[in-house]
Amino acid sequence: MTSSPILVLGATGKTGRRIAQRLAAAGVPVRAGSRSATPAFEWFDSSTWPAVLDGVKTAYVCFYPDLAIPEAPGILEAFTRAAKDAGIERLVLLSGRGEAGAVRCENIVVASGIPSVRLRASWFSQNFSEGPLLAGVLGGQIVLPAGNAREPFVDVDDIADVAVAALTDARHDGALYELTGPRMLTMAEAASEIAEAARRPVNYVPVTPEAFVETFTPIVGASIAEFTAELCREVFDGRNESLADGVERALGRGPRDFRDYCRAAARSGVWSA
Ligand SMILES: NC(=O)c1ccc[n+]([C@@H]2O[C@H](COP(=O)([O-])OP(=O)(O)OC[C@H]3O[C@@H](n4cnc5c(N)ncnc54)[C@H](OP(=O)(O)O)[C@@H]3O)[C@@H](O)[C@H]2O)c1
Repeated sequence: MTSSPILVLGATGKTGRRIAQRLAAAGVPVRAGSRSATPAFEWFDSSTWPAVLDGVKTAYVCFYPDLAIPEAPGILEAFTRAAKDAGIERLVLLSGRGEAGAVRCENIVVASGIPSVRLRASWFSQNFSEGPLLAGVLGGQIVLPAGNAREPFVDVDDIADVAVAALTDARHDGALYELTGPRMLTMAEAASEIAEAARRPVNYVPVTPEAFVETFTPIVGASIAEFTAELCREVFDGRNESLADGVERALGRGPRDFRDYCRAAARSGVWSA
């Protein structure tokens, strides 16, 4: 086990928070990387990077808002150069399944020559309880431009387990893990399982990308609403309608089911507000 800290970018977010907790529980020193950490890390200001990378050998790389934004490849190029200069020996990159822009960034990380692991995740189950969709669940309507596509929602706890394995065990170096849950659901089916677990009415409201942007701009801002609509157009066109075995290959066990996620989220009280 290394004595230098493992850098966890996005350490207050859905994946990073769980990863940092797991590492800390195992006695591994963690350096949190985000705008609210000390020292602060800002993806859009490379002058903040050297202090955060100093003394680190391994890093979990969680870009924000998404590897598919046009600025991401340039930022990832610069970041991998800075990581190499800092002596980083392993990068574990969170990526998105079915996103051409994210694959471009994965290739930049691989081309850096730093040993790396790519975690190509499908839609997070926890988007319904920890992200901007939570308000919709509480209001009884999940508004998305996702049509009737089926999605193999992945539990963020599985992503965190795989990330911790990849961060702490060199046998994963070079791996590309496609991380999905064990079952595909349409958004309507997901809403119905959430409703059953939460014991409240929740429906899926399919909308056009334009209507989605109108609804979400006041909540997340115009650029993220527009980007999310574009991303939905890309990933909900049927390309992700398949299961992958990344969780099983990385951990030797199957992924958690969406129904178990729903029960756990309901027990936590997040849908009782
Ligand atoms: N949601 C999905 O279904 C899904 C699926 C596949 C892949 N992904 C990928 O997951 C990533 C997001 O991960 P997540 O859901 O774990 O995070 P998250 O819950 O969205 O939280 C974002 C994290 O990034 C930090 N952050 C935000 N803006 C930042 C900036 N400008 N510079 C530095 N740090 C910043 C935040 O902390 P501070 O506020 O303190 O900075 C926070 O820790 C994205 O790359 C996305 O493409 C998501």
